[in-house]
Amino acid sequence: MNRKRKNTGMSLAEIKKMETVCQLAAQTLQYAVKLVAPGVTTGYINDAVHEYTLSLGAQSAPLNYHGFPKSVCTSVNDVACHGLPRDDEVLMPGDALNIDVTLKKAGFFGDTSTTVFVGDVADNVKKVTDAAKKGMMAGIEQVRVGNRTEDIGYATNKVVSGLGYHTVKSIGGHGIGDEFHKDPFVPAHGRPGRGELLRENTCITVEPMVNETSEDFIEFKVPNSSICYYKTIDGTPSAQFEHTILVKKNGYEILTAW
Ligand code: MF3
Ligand code: CO
Ligand code: CO
Repeated sequence: MNRKRKNTGMSLAEIKKMETVCQLAAQTLQYAVKLVAPGVTTGYINDAVHEYTLSLGAQSAPLNYHGFPKSVCTSVNDVACHGLPRDDEVLMPGDALNIDVTLKKAGFFGDTSTTVFVGDVADNVKKVTDAAKKGMMAGIEQVRVGNRTEDIGYATNKVVSGLGYHTVKSIGGHGIGDEFHKDPFVPAHGRPGRGELLRENTCITVEPMVNETSEDFIEFKVPNSSICYYKTIDGTPSAQFEHTILVKKNGYEILTAW
């Protein structure tokens, strides 16, 4: 997602608010992960995440965001991202599920996701998921003042393609702070030294989507919303991880560490 509002450096007080909401987002994601089991519906996970978020004195940012009707995104197997939780979607052994939680508190947003397995999953599912996590970490390691968004994407794509997998090119990470999605776009591919400069005391997300056979996907509209969800073109699995990261002079801080 990419909204073109400038991402300027935050004050110490604003950074504190980001730290708080990001820790609550991480806590909510861990809570959601514990609910995952065969027979559970993604609709149930949605409702539980919604209630848990409120109990933390926070709000679910996805709910009503550009018309999105649910409080969390749940993307099963070949759904790359923005999957819509459903009461008739029952998790089965062998499924891989990305849960993407975004909380808002005191005007600031924390965004984080993970991919979890339901029971035993096939080897190819484990491998593509592992590639997504390694790609995200390689990207995060590029975060520091003076580096650029494509340094992150380049590092991610190098790891992912080295493992034989494919990063999704047209969607990716984003600036975040007092808005859910702001400048800059943070790609999962690129050329070193290109893209937008990372600025001190701003936050971005690093959230590569990794597909098994090809980066191509099909876009579907979420009903009554301007949000789309995406499926791989051939039904093969896609995996994703996401952290919200604070850009610092000599490095980074993973604000949503779980
Ligand atoms: N959490 C997603 C992201 O990482 C955005 C979800 S927007 C929604 O950017 F509307 F689909 F919830
Ligand atoms: Co995000
Ligand atoms: Co997210």
